[in-house]
Amino acid sequence: MSPAAANPAGARLVGGPRHALDEVASTQDELARLAAAGAPEGTVVTALHQTGGRGRRGRAWLDAPGDNLLFSILLRPALPAAGSAALSLVAAVAVSEAVAAAAGVAAGIRWPNDLLFGDRKLCGILAEAAVDGAGRVESVRLGIGLNVNQAEFPPSIRALATSLRLVTGRAQDRERLLGEVLAALDRRYGEFLAVGFAPARAEWRRRSVTLGRWVRVGGVRDPVLVEDVDEVGALLARDGAGRAVRLTSGEPVDAAPPARAGEGLSAPVATGPDAPHAGRAPGR
Ligand code: BTN
Repeated sequence: MSPAAANPAGARLVGGPRHALDEVASTQDELARLAAAGAPEGTVVTALHQTGGRGRRGRAWLDAPGDNLLFSILLRPALPAAGSAALSLVAAVAVSEAVAAAAGVAAGIRWPNDLLFGDRKLCGILAEAAVDGAGRVESVRLGIGLNVNQAEFPPSIRALATSLRLVTGRAQDRERLLGEVLAALDRRYGEFLAVGFAPARAEWRRRSVTLGRWVRVGGVRDPVLVEDVDEVGALLARDGAGRAVRLTSGEPVDAAPPARAGEGLSAPVATGPDAPHAGRAPGR
């Protein structure tokens, strides 16, 4: 089934109504309130500044007021919770495509959904789902923080973060970027509903900076060689003894291969048509 068949009227799924705020604690929380009050799929909350921006794993998301894109999008996929797990990887593909189209920047994707340029983070995505008693998704809030025109970062993240302005050497049009991101998300989300994760998964592999690397992922002691993502977005890897490892959460950090790495291991998937994105960009 083509995306058009799933959405015969060609109506946009993502991009409106839009609630544009100057300042809010978190666009995620504001969108949760709107979702609970019955807001339709595609509702977007944007803010110029967040006083309590939230990142993954309980971290804060800091911003410089007015410089970046801070927004949350409401999705209502009619799927079981497990079926929607890949959505955050789909979102990373869409944002990477939009950033390439609007700013000419080739951002790599670090599993599951960070956008990097070099080894610095350009964009973070926080996917939060509300699930009903039967395990079906009521809504997913995709929160996206894209560093656009910020020229300086606080000392705690200075070595880890970058912005499109720093990468390209020129200020970027935030509204144009937002339009590109929403259009790319609309396309990729429609495709995901129609045919599943496979097409975005292929593009995720091409843009990945995690595939083919030895990494440590929180909670797993030994380094693993990353080979693929599966059909729900989990990371597939092998440890130094060649044992298969499947990871559904955590953050990959580059690691040295174990001393005996290579014995009995097949080549990583870093070489075929779906080879990782060409940009230099180790995980961190
Ligand atoms: C990450 O840790 O990488 C995810 C960061 C997500 C930040 C965005 S900014 C807009 C939205 N509102 C929030 O409070 N968080 C997300």
